[in-house]
Amino acid sequence: MSANEVVTEGVEALTLTNGKDGSGDDMVATGVEVVVQDDDIVNPWSVTSSTDAGVDYDKLIKRFGSSKIDEELIARFEKITGKPAHHFIKRGIFFSHRDLHSILTLKEQGKPFYMYTGRGPSSESLHLGHLIPFIMSKWLQETFDVPLVIQLTDDEKTLWKDLTVEAAIKLSRENAKDIIAMGFDLDKTFIFNNLNFMGSCPALYQNVIRVQKCVTFNQVKGIFGFGDSDIIGKIGFPAVQAAPALSSTFPFIFGKNKVHCLIPCAIDQDPYFRMTRDVAPRLGYPKCALLHSSFFPALQGAKSKMSGSEQNSAIFLIDTPKQIKNKINKYAFSGGRTTIEEHRTYGGNPDIDVAFQLLKFFLEDDVQLEQVRVSYSKGELLTGELKKLAIETITPIVERHQAARKLVTEELVDKYMEIRPLKFAK
Ligand code: TRP
Repeated sequence: MSANEVVTEGVEALTLTNGKDGSGDDMVATGVEVVVQDDDIVNPWSVTSSTDAGVDYDKLIKRFGSSKIDEELIARFEKITGKPAHHFIKRGIFFSHRDLHSILTLKEQGKPFYMYTGRGPSSESLHLGHLIPFIMSKWLQETFDVPLVIQLTDDEKTLWKDLTVEAAIKLSRENAKDIIAMGFDLDKTFIFNNLNFMGSCPALYQNVIRVQKCVTFNQVKGIFGFGDSDIIGKIGFPAVQAAPALSSTFPFIFGKNKVHCLIPCAIDQDPYFRMTRDVAPRLGYPKCALLHSSFFPALQGAKSKMSGSEQNSAIFLIDTPKQIKNKINKYAFSGGRTTIEEHRTYGGNPDIDVAFQLLKFFLEDDVQLEQVRVSYSKGELLTGELKKLAIETITPIVERHQAARKLVTEELVDKYMEIRPLKFAK
């Protein structure tokens, strides 16, 4: 081991026993605490990188023991779904997976599965980065024609943040409005917040207990880095995020059927699902499949991710066009050169340029994106011009979202959150 060897108690510890190939099995590590640590930190509570290009995702795949989404998988995906892959997949924004092949086989055979994703409601308004798993989930739901359950972990945020139970429940409901505004199909989508749903659905609590019975304190310490002075709520919480990956948590949707589950999420959530995949077969369930996204960069650059608690790092869905323009112009980290002359001569670096990264996420036209990349790299396109294009691309997306959210009534929220069967080919 090298000089950058550090002692971690957390997620990284798991990778020593788990860092095999992608076929990998999801052992829950115990007691292993010293690992070689790359400079990147990725766990559910912290994402940072030492370089402007951000986290080294190939290394992360190795560390986590997941699999790369490669050309062959994308080709199979397109063949089975009969449509081109979403630009998030083609551009490597969703770059890693576990068992996606099994899900494609189910689709091929016309067998059922469902999708599960979630959000921890820590702020009133979502920001652009929060949209990524939901945009992907919506597209996948439409592509596969399957039900989707969305967990709002207000319990998690109460435990981790300075939030009361009441405040967290309110945030859940506000966040549900943003999610609904994205246009999920009401017939096929169930949204629930743990602090309410746990009381009205005994099946959730029963599965939480089943999962908790399978995991020791040593194991969650190894996976999440909990310590002796952490509150006990944190130690038990991972089972609450695991339970929705077991279909019997939703008897009103799936009855007693043990249905496969696909989870699109940012890769920092993987530790929860490594634990889930370890436990599921012991409870007689298939392991959940996963699709992992990379992180949406902070305006200040890809060393950290966009964060709701850093006002100037994020473009919020409630920002005005003027705020969006000012934030991008003032804060978006530039891969351009210091003077126009130098920029014209040597060109800019789109890989570290946040305005370009915004386009990579949100400019759907592949041809135009490539033109921008080439002309910025050559120095033909200047930073100011690139930022202008980013502003022109993002602003209408945020405006459209705001208009859609205005139409989301309290009654509509109740409908999405109502315990009911979903349309589902059994
Ligand atoms: N823990 C997640 C967060 O803080 C929320 C979450 C719950 C989630 N279940 C999930 C995210 C499933 C992705 C998939 O945002």
